[in-house]
This record gives sequence, C-alpha cells and structure tokens, in this order.
Amino acid sequence: MTFQEEILAGIPAALPEAKPYDTEINHAPKRKDILTDEEKVLALKNALRYFPEALHAQLAPEFAQELKTYGRIYMYRYRPSYKMYARPIDEYPAKSRQAAAIMAMIQNNLDPRVAQHPHELIIYGGNGAIFQNWAQYRLVMQYLATMTDEQTLVMYSGHPLGLFPSHKDAPRVIVTNGMVIPNYSKPDDWERFNALGVSQYGQMTAGSYMYIGPQGIVHGTTITVMNAARKQGGSPAGKLFVTAGLGGMSGAQPKAGNIAGVVSVTAEINPKAAEKRYQQGWVDELHSNLDELIPRIKEAVAARKPVSLAYVGNVVDLWERLAADNVHVDLGSDQTSLHNPWAGGYYPVGYSLEESKQMMAEDPRRFKEAVQASLRRHVAAINQLAAKGMYFFDYGNAFLLESSRAGADVLKADGSFRYPSYVQDIMGPLYFDYGFGPFRWVCMSEKPEDLAKSDELAVKVLTEIAANSPEEIAGQMRDNIHWIQEAGRNHLVVGSQARILYADCEGRTKIALAFNEAIRKGEISAPIVLGRDHHDVSGTDSPFRETSNIYDGSRFTADMAVQNVIGDGFRGATWVSIHNGGGVGWGEVINGGFGMVIDGSADSDRHIREMLFWDVNNGIARRSWARNEAARFAIEREMARTPQLKVTLPHEADENLIRKTLQ
Ligand SMILES: NC(=O)c1ccc[n+]([C@@H]2O[C@H](COP(=O)([O-])OP(=O)(O)OC[C@H]3O[C@@H](n4cnc5c(N)ncnc54)[C@H](O)[C@@H]3O)[C@@H](O)[C@H]2O)c1
Repeated sequence: MTFQEEILAGIPAALPEAKPYDTEINHAPKRKDILTDEEKVLALKNALRYFPEALHAQLAPEFAQELKTYGRIYMYRYRPSYKMYARPIDEYPAKSRQAAAIMAMIQNNLDPRVAQHPHELIIYGGNGAIFQNWAQYRLVMQYLATMTDEQTLVMYSGHPLGLFPSHKDAPRVIVTNGMVIPNYSKPDDWERFNALGVSQYGQMTAGSYMYIGPQGIVHGTTITVMNAARKQGGSPAGKLFVTAGLGGMSGAQPKAGNIAGVVSVTAEINPKAAEKRYQQGWVDELHSNLDELIPRIKEAVAARKPVSLAYVGNVVDLWERLAADNVHVDLGSDQTSLHNPWAGGYYPVGYSLEESKQMMAEDPRRFKEAVQASLRRHVAAINQLAAKGMYFFDYGNAFLLESSRAGADVLKADGSFRYPSYVQDIMGPLYFDYGFGPFRWVCMSEKPEDLAKSDELAVKVLTEIAANSPEEIAGQMRDNIHWIQEAGRNHLVVGSQARILYADCEGRTKIALAFNEAIRKGEISAPIVLGRDHHDVSGTDSPFRETSNIYDGSRFTADMAVQNVIGDGFRGATWVSIHNGGGVGWGEVINGGFGMVIDGSADSDRHIREMLFWDVNNGIARRSWARNEAARFAIEREMARTPQLKVTLPHEADENLIRKTLQ
C-alpha cells in the first residue's frame, strides 16, 4: 500500500502484520497495574470496539498481554508501516487543505526525532499523549483525509467521536483531553481512566498537535535564563546555571544556556535521553563521573565562555556534591517531570534507572516513598547553595509543590514557598501581563527557504513596531528581534519547518498578516499553520505556573482557559483544544490552545484579526481585573486603539481602610 492508500484505509479490514518491539527507541515506562479484574474486562472490551468481531479472538489475547506488560493497550500491531514525519501539505490525501495541515502537524508530533516515546504515542513529559492507541491514530487520519470544510471532527482524549456537519468558518477539529469531573481528577484517576482507554493526559502541545520539538521551549527558556541572570546582576558570562532534565522540553536548557551566555550543568539520569541531545548538538559535553565534572565546571566558569555540560546521573547526587564542595552556583532550577512523580517523571536518588522502573511497576508505594525521600534530600542541598547566594526558581514542573507534599524544607513560615516560580518573578510581570506569549508557525511546504522568508518578515514587522514601542515593552521587543535574527544560525529546527518567538497582540497580528500576504503573492509557497503552546497570557489557568502571579484569589479558577478556547473556536481557529493537566500535572491545571491554517485568502486575514485579538486580550483583561499593573497598562492601551473593546477595570481600594474596618 502507498502512504496515501494506507491513510485512506483507516483501520484495515485485514489484520496487519504484527510489529516487532523496537528496542532501539525510547519506550514509555510500564504503567502501574491499577485496574481491578472487572475493570480489565472493561479495558479489553473498550479496546476491541475499534475492530470487527471476526478479529476479536486474535486481538483479545494480544491486547491482554499489552495491558499486562505495559499497563496500557497501545495496539502496537496497528502502527503504520510508512515512515512517520510531516510531509509537504500536498502529499496528503485530503478534500480539505485545513485537514491536510492538521495531518502534517499530527505526524510531526509523532516523528521519532520529535516524540519522546513515539511507539506509545507519547510526545513529551513522560505522559503527554496525542492518542491512546494506534487505532485512534488511524481513524483520525482517515477522517481528516475524507472530511470537507463543511464538517468538524470531534476528539475525546484521542478518541475520534466522529465527523459532524458544520460550516467553513467553524473549526475543523475540536479537541478535549482529560476532561473529567473535578472530584475524579487525582493522579490515580488518570492511571485508571487511561488504562481503561477512556481518557488521556494531553500535556499542552502533545494532545493538541502543536509540538514543534524542543525549539518551542528553547526560546522561553532562553529569555527566562537571561532574565534570571539579569536578576543576579552583571553579565551572564561566567555565571553557573545548574538544573536537571534532558528530555522532551527540558532538553532545551543547555541550548538556551549557551544562547543566554552562561555555563550550564544539566543532570539527566537516562543515558538515552542524554545521548539524543548530545547527538543533536543541544548539549556540548556528557560526563558521568562527578570527580571529573566538578573540576571541568570550575574551569568553564573561570574561562567565562558559554558551554553546556551534562551530568549523566541523578541530579540529587550532583546537587549534594556541589554543596559539599562549596561550588558557587548562581542560578538553579529543575525540569524533571515532577508533574508526573509516581509514573516515571522523577527518578529517586540511590537507585539506577532500571531499578526505579521495576520498583515503580511492582511496588508503587515503595517507589513513592523513595521519590519523596529523594525530594527531601534534593531540597536540602539546594537550600545550602541558596543560602550562599544562588537564585533558585521553580521551572513550572511542580517541583516546589511536590517537594512540599514530600515534607521537604521548602516552605516559609507563612506557608508560601521559599522560592519563586519563574512566572511570578519573570514571565508573568515581564511578559504575560503585557500580552507577550509563545507565538509559533509551521511552514506547510516543509521548505527551509519558506521558513527563512518568514523569519525575515517577522524581523521586519517587529523592528517597525519596536520603533514606536513604549518603554515598558521595549526590552521584550529587543530580545525577540535578537532571537529571531539568530534563530536560523542556531539550527533550531527538529522535525517540521517551524519557528517560535514571543510577541504581543500587535506583534502576532501584524506578523501573521504579513505571512498571509506573502502566501497570497507566492513569496511563501504554501499555507502556514499559526499556533502557540498553552503557556501563554490567556490559554492557561495554572495556579503554580501561568497564573501564579494572580493575587486576587482567582488563581484556582479556570474560567479564562475555558473562555479562551470557546472564543477562539468561533473567531476563526482551525482547531482548538482544551486540556486537564499539562505542565504541572493532572488535576492541577486547565489549558487551552489553537491552531490556525492561513492560506493567503481574505478569510485568513479576517480570522487572524478576530481570533488573535481575542486570544491575547482575554487574558490581559483578566490579569488587569486581578489588579496586575502591567496588564492594566496593556489593556488600557488596547482600548485606546480599539473602540469596540470595553473591559471592566478595577477600582483600587485602600488596604488600610479595609483593615481598620475589619478590626
Ligand atoms: N515552564 C516551562 O516553560 C516548562 C517548559 C518545559 C517543561 N516544563 C516542565 O518541565 C518538566 C520536564 O518536561 P520534559 O518535556 O522535558 O519531560 P521529560 O520527561 O521528557 O524529561 C524529564 C527528564 O528528567 C529526567 N529525570 C527524572 N528524574 C531525574 C533525576 N532524579 N535526575 C536526573 N534526571 C532525571 C528524565 O529521565 C527525563 O529525561 C515537565 O514537568 C514540564 O511540564 C516546564
């Protein structure tokens, strides 16, 4: 069968060849055995409903074995036989160009160069899934290949509910992931629902077909590290940044460290993950011996030249050694997957990777204790170095939250965390409150020259805007112009021809309109997909991350994320997605995102103007209502520009008056 035929066949009538388990690639850890015997019956029944009865006798034992061995039914046999990567848009069988673009985005997510555990359909973060099984993938691709611009595909946590009649201005796909009743949103509920095949953890860009590999996060990490270094005063040269994780997103840290100009040391316990980043040139040196690494760190700091070192081992061993040897660390953080502490996101000190994986599957309670003990040691070492001047920040992976739950010494007397989250100190006040967020685009021709042209347009647009930018946002504009000018030289593309930068509403809109015009004139040869990750001013309600700098008590509400997606849905998004979980963990966050295909048409111009305006300003308005000064500044500026925008502004109350009243 050709690529096109295989897509159009969906779930084939005849049983495909069984696929051998490929030991060369990185596989998801075995998930814990959480289902009761009765629930296992249900899980198998659920899996088999994708297939005609005639195949059940053969598939049932196979799926039962997968459930037993891996804790999930992935339906490995149904992995497609073609190579997985994003093709140029015209190579997809499709009646809708928009749907073809979505197919390319899905295949990019699953590209083994991009995905963390590609055969288990896990894109990043250890559990960030695009689909739960290969039957869902095949059905979705078939629906996309056959749908028209008068239909909408409805996705329930990887499962395609079906195509429903709609209209050409409606989204082609609506995605929900992990939407459960709030009282059933504990981590074990995810394990159970996912094992049953009825829900999944979509992370942010995994389940919304918008992951562009680690580039997406290099940029955010670069500006975070740059601003963290600025907080420590002086030049970044010779400053030491210590952190953990060389996985899906965390792998961006060493690259970002180099771009920001610091010396970085990143611990990674999984040699495969470390090797992958080394081979890609994202980390300069791998070390597995602390006796050799420590002098190398001192030498690098003394040379004051940016370099990225990796420690292939447990980060707790690294921190304890740095503390014992009294090495001065300027900046510290952590990007292990602590949003997923009990299922492979964080490996406890004192055990090899293999021992941990075994314990996790066979003795989850002991594993949990080991993780919590490890976190207590982890924090103790960090506290020692912080007492000597290190600036430590939580990097949005629930490090402080899980450490506090583990009883680590991470709380102040008033119950708040000793250390800030990077959003409280950096991203919130400097970026989100002004509407700056992670605007990204992907060239559907898959041609590097189209990406280069789009970079050039983005620089031109931002430079023009920057000439008249108010002082409050001049720094952000400068950093982003610098970033985009360097982006091509930094070889950031892994997988699709994609780019990211941070821009506010004006920047995003004008860049998108310039792209659309270039497509119209043929200067860019194919449509472009616009999108963002969910880590943005409006998309995400996450009390310990994106909305951690909301102080009016509303940070535990999720109206903004839900409104964001509804509003995008009727203003021109090609697809929208709303997820429970993402970043900090199941039950801890609601996040929304969108994708928009622009094709040079007048409709695309209209969608850009209407949808991006809402997508950014919804969050600024909420942040302004929460009395965030920068957001108030940004929304008043927008109201002055846009007479139809009328936002409710807060009156400031005198706190002394209130306190006196309540005495
Ligand atoms: N704030 C942000 O912008 C932001 C960005 C990216 C990621 N995150 C968060 O950071 C975390 C990491 O994301 P990811 O996609 O890289 O996940 P990932 O699971 O792909 O990578 C985490 C890596 O940490 C390693 N690791 C786990 N425990 C370790 C230990 N004790 N010592 C050394 N290495 C250890 C794992 O082997 C893994 O490779 C997630 O929780 C994610 O949500 C936040």
